[in-house]
Amino acid sequence: LQRTARLMAHAGRTEEREMPETLRVTTHPTRPIAGQKPGTSGLRKKTRVFMEPHYLENFVQALFNALHGAEGKTFVLGGDGRYFNDRAAQVILRMAAAQGAERVIVGQGALLSTPAASHLIRARRTDGGIILSASHNPGGADEDFGIKFNTPNGGPAAEAITTAIHAETERLSEYRILEAHDIDLSHIGTHDLAGMVVEVVDPVADYAALMEELFDFDAIRGLFRSGFRMKFDAMHAITGPYAAHILEHMLGAPMGTVVNATPQPDFGGHHPDPNPTHARLLYEHLMGDHAPEFGAASDGDGDRNMILGRGIYVSPSDSLAVIAANAHLAPGWSGGLRGVARSMPTSRAVDRVAAARGWDAYATPTGWKFFGSLLDSGRVSLCGEESFGTGADHVREKDGLWAVLMWLNILAHRRQSVAEVLADHWREYGRDYYSRHDYEGVDAAGAAALMDALRGRLDALAGTVAGPLTVSGARDFAYTDPVDGATATGQGLEIDFEGGARAVLRLSGTGTEGATLRVYLERPEAALDLDPARALEPVVQAVAALADIAGHTGRTAPDVVT
Ligand code: G6P
Ligand code: ZN
Repeated sequence: LQRTARLMAHAGRTEEREMPETLRVTTHPTRPIAGQKPGTSGLRKKTRVFMEPHYLENFVQALFNALHGAEGKTFVLGGDGRYFNDRAAQVILRMAAAQGAERVIVGQGALLSTPAASHLIRARRTDGGIILSASHNPGGADEDFGIKFNTPNGGPAAEAITTAIHAETERLSEYRILEAHDIDLSHIGTHDLAGMVVEVVDPVADYAALMEELFDFDAIRGLFRSGFRMKFDAMHAITGPYAAHILEHMLGAPMGTVVNATPQPDFGGHHPDPNPTHARLLYEHLMGDHAPEFGAASDGDGDRNMILGRGIYVSPSDSLAVIAANAHLAPGWSGGLRGVARSMPTSRAVDRVAAARGWDAYATPTGWKFFGSLLDSGRVSLCGEESFGTGADHVREKDGLWAVLMWLNILAHRRQSVAEVLADHWREYGRDYYSRHDYEGVDAAGAAALMDALRGRLDALAGTVAGPLTVSGARDFAYTDPVDGATATGQGLEIDFEGGARAVLRLSGTGTEGATLRVYLERPEAALDLDPARALEPVVQAVAALADIAGHTGRTAPDVVT
């Protein structure tokens, strides 16, 4: 029976022969659908767009076509549990079976955090993985959905592959799918789907085992035994089960340490984005009178993190620098780091650590995919972005819970508060005050006009007085990958000021509506205890003098400040 089913899957046409209904492969005629172009992190659209007839099927077929077929291949499949995750997983399984895939490893309930998926893709030596997520974007029928392909190294597909997928979406005329009932993904075990093995695995187990290898769990257990308390906000998203298992069961944190721990299709109606705006209750708790020593949150698919101490917020750029300076305290990096990388708009705090330790430091365009070649080639062991992403060479995605465990490892070894760790760090390396201002959902044409106008003046900006600052140099950031020579242009307008301050203006590549203008502000300063907003005021004024944000967007204040 299995062999017959396989033959039929390869035939790629509906068979007339008498066969059980569950084993029929259908070839559906289809037409290209415009706009199936993966952005910063996969294809992201409104959920209802993904639910339109053939939308998902077209993209998945284009993906398999771009991979030159799926026959005999093994893939990982899972997502962050958002609305439509379960339906999409069933469609993808039937399509993989119809193309003759050998095996699909699926997280139980079609769930997998992005870093856990990255780990499985690598650990099981697969041909890649399909991750269903729109990351930190809200979920629900009227919110966002997304799909992304990761290559066998565990990382997001490089530009060449996403471009090939997009090209396939533009010339597609049919897709192949198996007509079959849903597979029961609610239990661990294996199923046969027309000759393809569907292996349902515990989404947490392998990842938890990896974390136990990388970090000093005994030291962290000792920290919790000493009375140290933390709150982890899973934001009703995927890290709930991971954090509850690792923090509460393996590390002995008190029950209730992890809050909002049950993944929900609409993330409880919130933006599952770990920043002071969207994780406001956690933030206020840590700033309040009864704050525990440590607080952290992760996003929809588990790759972002926010770090808080009692009474203190750790900016992602500072977190990256502190981790760089202390990673050797964790068994996974006890031999030291090879080098570090940050996205260009991320503050230069980590560069200071690299300079002091003699490591190479790279600045890449925004998007985790740009770290892949640096990690694969062994040039860097640690990467991070201002957008609440931190990670290392253990997987090829940023990893929210990993960052939290790294901080716990640091706190367990240094036996200092978060505030003390930061104060020591700034004293040793200096401090870059840093903030990002987001203008969300602005008119796309207005945002483009703002960028065009500023871009047109960049070459002539040096020497210009802008509010209280003077421009020392400006550029439209372009990047050549030092490993494979791939180039990326137009990655953000970077303006340096005399005295070391910097501003970057960039349009987000992850939104689904209108445009989001991001203004990144940075200023090194010898005084270590200033209020960041005050310290950055001159840079804000300089940007106001250079780019007419209000005029182009109609906005007088940012929607989100991180
Ligand atoms: C995702 C990507 C990150 C990126 C972030 C912000 O999380 O994985 O690499 O930094 O989005 O991207 P954006 O284009 O919206 O600034
Ligand atoms: Zn994410």
